[in-house]
Amino acid sequence: NLLESGSFTWSSPSNIALVKYWGKREHQIPENPSVSFTLDACKTTTTLSFSKKSNQDEFSFDVFLDGKQQDDFKPKIETFFKRIESYLPFLKDYYFKIETANTFPHSSGIASSASGMSALALCLMSIEKELDSDIPEEFFIQKASFLARLGSGSACRSLKGDLVVWGKHEEIDESSDLFGVKYPFEVHENFKNFHDTILLVDKGEKQVSSTVGHNLMYNHPFAKERFKQAHKNLSELINVFKVGDLKTFINIVESEALTLHAMMMTSMPYFILMKPNTLEIINKIWAFRKETGTHVCFTLDAGANVHVLYPENEAEQVYEFIKNELVAYCQNGHYICDRIGFGAKQL
Ligand code: PMV
Repeated sequence: NLLESGSFTWSSPSNIALVKYWGKREHQIPENPSVSFTLDACKTTTTLSFSKKSNQDEFSFDVFLDGKQQDDFKPKIETFFKRIESYLPFLKDYYFKIETANTFPHSSGIASSASGMSALALCLMSIEKELDSDIPEEFFIQKASFLARLGSGSACRSLKGDLVVWGKHEEIDESSDLFGVKYPFEVHENFKNFHDTILLVDKGEKQVSSTVGHNLMYNHPFAKERFKQAHKNLSELINVFKVGDLKTFINIVESEALTLHAMMMTSMPYFILMKPNTLEIINKIWAFRKETGTHVCFTLDAGANVHVLYPENEAEQVYEFIKNELVAYCQNGHYICDRIGFGAKQL
């Protein structure tokens, strides 16, 4: 009972890890649990159109970004389709047109893999649901997250909000290595509406792809300790979220960011992904925090851009500081104002 044709559209956000995922085993199984804030403004909208085809020997699809055909994305999607084929048996029955658009510029140095892969996984699940209407809502999201993980690990944390855990953790029963779950415990007011202003320090191509990056953790001299530390940091965050302890939050989040970069600096081969302006910004944030007693802090991805995190009730004061003192260190003065969001939506 194959559908002849149709189309589905989902929009899915990016996310920013507080405890970082860095290091994986086969089949995109993370070496340690991670937790992230789901973002709101930075997102990908994908329309997946499908039509039945006669030949079922291979995958057939085209990819369009902002209306322009993009053949450079095809190998990544081909790999994704191969990985998920056994979980979505209809993949070779259709020709797919994948039309995708990001709210953030393609060359911003912000990875679109989390938002892009989760949006695509959700569109594919909408087809699956159309073919098997009995799929319960909870399982729909869980399987979409499972599939998104096979596209890009951190993508499995983008479907829900506002906090998502991925990777088995001893104190979080619902947690799994296979998909992201909504953070199940109490979260204090202090973390509601948290802001993330993303400072675009370097918009160039990523120096180290995340595949290469994760592989650096094989035989890394500090890997074992690092994975243990991630478990411990997530344990501590459970209490931090409950009681609203912003000071400890800052210590854990900044330490996680610097540890991620420390892992890259101490691997073989080694990389320095921060730029001079990354350090200027970090030092400015530390000085401002000391001077004002506000609770602004930073985190980093595997690149030079800085995510500036701050609570809602200090937003005005911190935003003034960002505009007056930090934006000068951004490439062409570019930055993105984002905040905590609530996950993907079908359009
Ligand atoms: O999802 P990947 O394979 O692109 O890895 C992302 C890794 C970090 O962004 C550096 C950390 C994280 O947990 O998101």
